[in-house]
Amino acid sequence: MRHLIDPLDLNESEMQDLLELASRIREDPAAYQEVAAHKKLATLFYEPSTRTRLSFEAAMLNLGGHVLGFPSDNVSSASKGESVADTIRVVSCYADIAAMRHPKEGAPLRASQYSRIPVINAGDGGHQHPTQTFTDLLTILTRHGRLDNLTIGLCGDLKFGRTVHSLIKTMARRKNIKFILISPDELRVPDYIIKDVLVANNIPFEETASLEDAMPQLDILYMTRVQKERFFNEEDYVRLKNSYILTKEKMEAARPDMAVLHPLPRVNEIALDVDDDPRAAYFEQAQNGVYVRMALIMMLLGLTDPKTGKEVSLC
Ligand code: CP
Repeated sequence: MRHLIDPLDLNESEMQDLLELASRIREDPAAYQEVAAHKKLATLFYEPSTRTRLSFEAAMLNLGGHVLGFPSDNVSSASKGESVADTIRVVSCYADIAAMRHPKEGAPLRASQYSRIPVINAGDGGHQHPTQTFTDLLTILTRHGRLDNLTIGLCGDLKFGRTVHSLIKTMARRKNIKFILISPDELRVPDYIIKDVLVANNIPFEETASLEDAMPQLDILYMTRVQKERFFNEEDYVRLKNSYILTKEKMEAARPDMAVLHPLPRVNEIALDVDDDPRAAYFEQAQNGVYVRMALIMMLLGLTDPKTGKEVSLC
């Protein structure tokens, strides 16, 4: 049995299989509508979510399966003090697979150690968000036709942004990737990622506070929200929250084929008038989240792809 806790839990060949399966599903979703009949997905969300929880639920329903779960800790027995370990032991009796979001880093990993069903990390604190990364990869692939030879600008909260951490880790495995890390000093990428991922793998990167300077070089601009919920001090949040606002005027300096990604939700960091720019890819990205989660559920449950007649299990 496999779990998905970290994006690198899938090797490069498995990642390729996942993206190919997600693309096949996107081309003909109706072909997959009975694939997970009688299977149950539990969504265990200890932290708010719109896209991740609902796209997991939509994914399982699109595959013909069923969904159960809780959307916040205060409507589960976590509010009475039940541990993640006990919760997953019990949920293992009710479901075939579980997606867990938790504010504490490492909680889905701990759950996986006690689980009898595959556990998917749906975001743990400021740590990792692997299924968002698979969504990002499918969107980049769709926009650029490749995952190599890209200059990627990451902008905003690079310190607490788990989507940023997972994307850097994953894209560091590709060829000829350069990162431009755009943030205020207080929200820089953590040192452990700089050292253990970028420096250790000889990945070129620049750190800058200027979105305008970076813009003309980028194939991808990955905007992120400054996350109020990760700050201990309201004053710091207020000072930093509007550090970057992408506007129509700033887009004039970008390449014609640059893609703007954002894991969403957005607050102020992308002006509404950017939404009509053909380079804005963030709603397409949210749609891709359903296809990659359908593919992931199929692979973790070892289901058969009706298009190829073959089992798509991870081994
Ligand atoms: N991208 C993302 O994780 O969004 P939600 O917090 O709404 O799930």
